[in-house]
Amino acid sequence: MAKNRIVYCCSECGVETANWAGKCPSCGAWNTLQEFQLDSPKRKASSGRLNLSQNSPRRLSDLDTREETRYVTGISELDRVLGGGAVRGSLVLVGGAPGIGKSTLLLQVCDAVRQQRTILYVTGEESERQIRMRADRLQVSNHDLFVLAETDIDAIVREIDQLNPDLVIIDSIQTMYTADASSTPGSPSQIRECTMKILRLTKDKGVTVFLVGHITKEGGLAGPKILEHMVDCVLYFEGERESNFRILRAAKNRYGSTNEIGVFEMETKGLVCVSNPSEMLLSGRPENCSGTCVTCSIEGTRPILAEIQALVSSGGHNAARRSNGIDYNRAAMLIAVLEKRAGFPLSSCDTYINVVGGLTLDEPAADLATILSLSSSYLDRPLGTDLAAIGEVGLSGELRQVIGLNQRLAEIHRLGFKRCIISSNYREVPSGFPGLQIIPVPDIRRAITAVLGK
Ligand code: TYD
Ligand code: MG
Repeated sequence: MAKNRIVYCCSECGVETANWAGKCPSCGAWNTLQEFQLDSPKRKASSGRLNLSQNSPRRLSDLDTREETRYVTGISELDRVLGGGAVRGSLVLVGGAPGIGKSTLLLQVCDAVRQQRTILYVTGEESERQIRMRADRLQVSNHDLFVLAETDIDAIVREIDQLNPDLVIIDSIQTMYTADASSTPGSPSQIRECTMKILRLTKDKGVTVFLVGHITKEGGLAGPKILEHMVDCVLYFEGERESNFRILRAAKNRYGSTNEIGVFEMETKGLVCVSNPSEMLLSGRPENCSGTCVTCSIEGTRPILAEIQALVSSGGHNAARRSNGIDYNRAAMLIAVLEKRAGFPLSSCDTYINVVGGLTLDEPAADLATILSLSSSYLDRPLGTDLAAIGEVGLSGELRQVIGLNQRLAEIHRLGFKRCIISSNYREVPSGFPGLQIIPVPDIRRAITAVLGK
């Protein structure tokens, strides 16, 4: 008789080990290894099998892609992030902090998707009545929408078999359980088993599933790392609690690019798509204030203007550094370049950098605006609200070219900026933006002199 095997599973990262230890050998967390009984190998083999296609090699050109139809969810910003709509039979994981609006977004999807599609909303977190009340508030009135309050994944699979929906929403994976795994709901092995069952369902029946996932306080998805490998798309719903802004970002997408972002605003009647994010991100900018500069970032195919704020104040022995929205190491490098190449003694100062609106800028094109914002704060001289800056900064303080310059300038021009400072490294100064003065400079020193007069 096959003996049930014992493994130890880390509740933080989900790694499995044969022996118990006080410290997780993978993520280093203390006291997180929990004992689990693995199922007998026979059952495991049958439950783990995923029948993606006929299991014999077929010629690539013979494979039919017509089946992989997309249908638009009707929420333009979500469709943009998915790469033009949801693909039939795909499994999409939507992660985000509690209260950010995951359930709201997906309930709105239920209303926006029409074309006679049957939709099942499975909730493990709220009662059916609560869903109805929320739906009323959001004015969701889809006749083909069914609601099921259930956490047993095997019962859910049975219901799906009967109802035969086109779209299923499961809110959330951490509340689901299966009798095939012996641990409590939300544990790595439960999440893995439940996701496996859902995955099999999507591929066998061609049903599209949106899965809600909780995130840990570090910002990653709660559960085993394998969760992200199993699904087709991983979307993160982000935003600051104090602001109404919400940004949807793809961390993984088997059917599209991961560069696109979707921008929403949370209003009293739910989430509203923001098709013109630049205007919104720049609204409420302080005037005549030092330590703020605007740049243009390209997110996927769309140029978006963002305001970078900096605050430099004289620090004590332990100078503090915080950076929000710009990679900490990149910010540290820019501060060092500013000190060495422009002579600002920032290493003895507290420096804080923030990108307004909860946006994350990971493009080097934002370097120059960060440098100018820091310089403006250090000198306590405003840059003026009509100025934008685009350019990558090198270690010797030189300004480098960035891709998509014309696209960025067009957006800056569209929003009525009067001056834009760029690298002088381009073959010719771009033209065709009447009313926008383009200032090419070779390095950060010249940039600071040109706009701050130091
Ligand atoms: P919710 O979708 O429940 O978040 P999640 O599922 O990610 O935990 O969103 C709840 C928040 O959204 C709550 O704080 C109230 C706010 N909200 C609105 O501002 N307007 C609305 O129309 C709705 C439905 C929610
Ligand atoms: Mg929710």
